[in-house]
Amino acid sequence: MPGFQAIILAAGLGTRMRSKLPKVVHEICGKPMIMLVLDALEAAGAERTFVVVGHLAELVEEIVGRRAVCVLQTEQKGTGHAVMQAKDALSAYEGTVLVAAGDAAYLTESDLTSLVNHHQETKASATLLSSIVEDPLGYGRVVRDTSGRVSRIVEEKDCSPQEALIKEVNSSVYCFEKRDLFNALSRITPDNVQGEYYLTDVIEVMMKQGLRVEAIVSEDPLAAQGINTRLQLAEAEKIFRDRIRERLMLSGVTMVDPATTFVDFDVVIGQDTKILPFSVIQGDTVIGENCIIGPFARIIDSKVSEGASISNAVVIEAEVGEDVSVGPYAYLRTGTVLLERSKVGTFVEVKKSTVGKGSKVPHQTYLGDATVGEGVNIGAGTITCNYDGCYKYPTIISDGVFVGSNTNFVAPVKIGKGAYIAAGSTITEDVPEGALGIARGRQKNIQGWVKKRLKEGKKSGSQEDSGGTCDI
Ligand code: UD1
Ligand code: CA
Repeated sequence: MPGFQAIILAAGLGTRMRSKLPKVVHEICGKPMIMLVLDALEAAGAERTFVVVGHLAELVEEIVGRRAVCVLQTEQKGTGHAVMQAKDALSAYEGTVLVAAGDAAYLTESDLTSLVNHHQETKASATLLSSIVEDPLGYGRVVRDTSGRVSRIVEEKDCSPQEALIKEVNSSVYCFEKRDLFNALSRITPDNVQGEYYLTDVIEVMMKQGLRVEAIVSEDPLAAQGINTRLQLAEAEKIFRDRIRERLMLSGVTMVDPATTFVDFDVVIGQDTKILPFSVIQGDTVIGENCIIGPFARIIDSKVSEGASISNAVVIEAEVGEDVSVGPYAYLRTGTVLLERSKVGTFVEVKKSTVGKGSKVPHQTYLGDATVGEGVNIGAGTITCNYDGCYKYPTIISDGVFVGSNTNFVAPVKIGKGAYIAAGSTITEDVPEGALGIARGRQKNIQGWVKKRLKEGKKSGSQEDSGGTCDI
């Protein structure tokens, strides 16, 4: 089979989305919808893809990156006009061109493959992918002649009452022979209700030229559905979310309550990992085997190794090592690395810090720009004072250090191996290996002070609870 090249139309304003962003960058399960189309095209074997960009082109270009070549449509004059913009980019190419709308999020590799195969086997000039839907409202209707051959596509706004009843709709995904496509495009006019150059009109032009036009009907009624509104976006989110959950459960992941488990497209989760309710796993997160995630975990772009547990926590761009325990109520921010068997517990925030093997940060702590060695114990209420209002500084806590509760480390500061830090210290200088660092006011006990105060109170006639100041 010869190959094919592809054009994705993504220049439109997306008016129905009512958004300041281009429609095709809106995400479905963490993926911009145009990338769903691109994924399907690549899976089906597109040799090269061109994306027609226009409205906020740079945003679309950034998302597409190196995976496709972008061509600009400066004015959005319709889908036919959009395809014309790719003419120069395709000048050296002869053969099959697949055109898909950038909002055709439900497009599948198998529908694309069937479309290309049918098109090339029948040697058609154009082949469109259609589907049969219960409610065709808003779609272009596929009009067939008495012998059942496609004769044209008529847009909703241009339909006669009779045509409006047709349930076979255009998916906005087509194969064309390049030469015939651009030839037909040069003959279409914006002579319609919307005053646009409709790509759909090339079908009728080709029929009139006596060229062969084919259509294949997808078995999936969703195949034709574009994402035009926020309602359709939410509907797609739900459908894809279900598919992702199903795929993961079938691969050996337990979801105690699938309905409250939200997982993005590219997330990888290992076998026998259990996801407890109300958990959201996003972006490029990879979770190993035998982990326990949730309840109430939100994990974004992070790596979680085998046997780790994360409860009631927010984890962003962090690495959680093997058998590490996180939470409840922990916040791991960008650049956090927790090495194996370490623990970050309740009301702990960690940013751009490493916690060494087996080290424990169990309660109410902030670690920022810190390097914590192996076998360290960080007492409750420890804070790294890493920011002086202008710059950030590091704190180094070496292997085997014991940090007493309520310690402040005023960075930059280094604590040597095996040192102890007395509770309540504000450490401003380095502490050498094996030393005790203590930095706090000495305690003074004043014998009989309470009795004396009461006596003085009676003398002056004031009541115990009069709110008078205490002279110490
Ligand atoms: C289109 C089809 C319709 C089909 C439906 C399926 C046309 C005229 N109509 O309608 O038959 O049933 O898709 O979802 O083609 N775009 C540009 N430049 C433009 C205009 C649009 O790049 O000047 C892009 C849009 O960004 C979008 C795609 O083309 O990704 C389709 O445009 P859209 O406005 O969504 O077309 P529909 O009205 O949904
Ligand atoms: Ca659409």
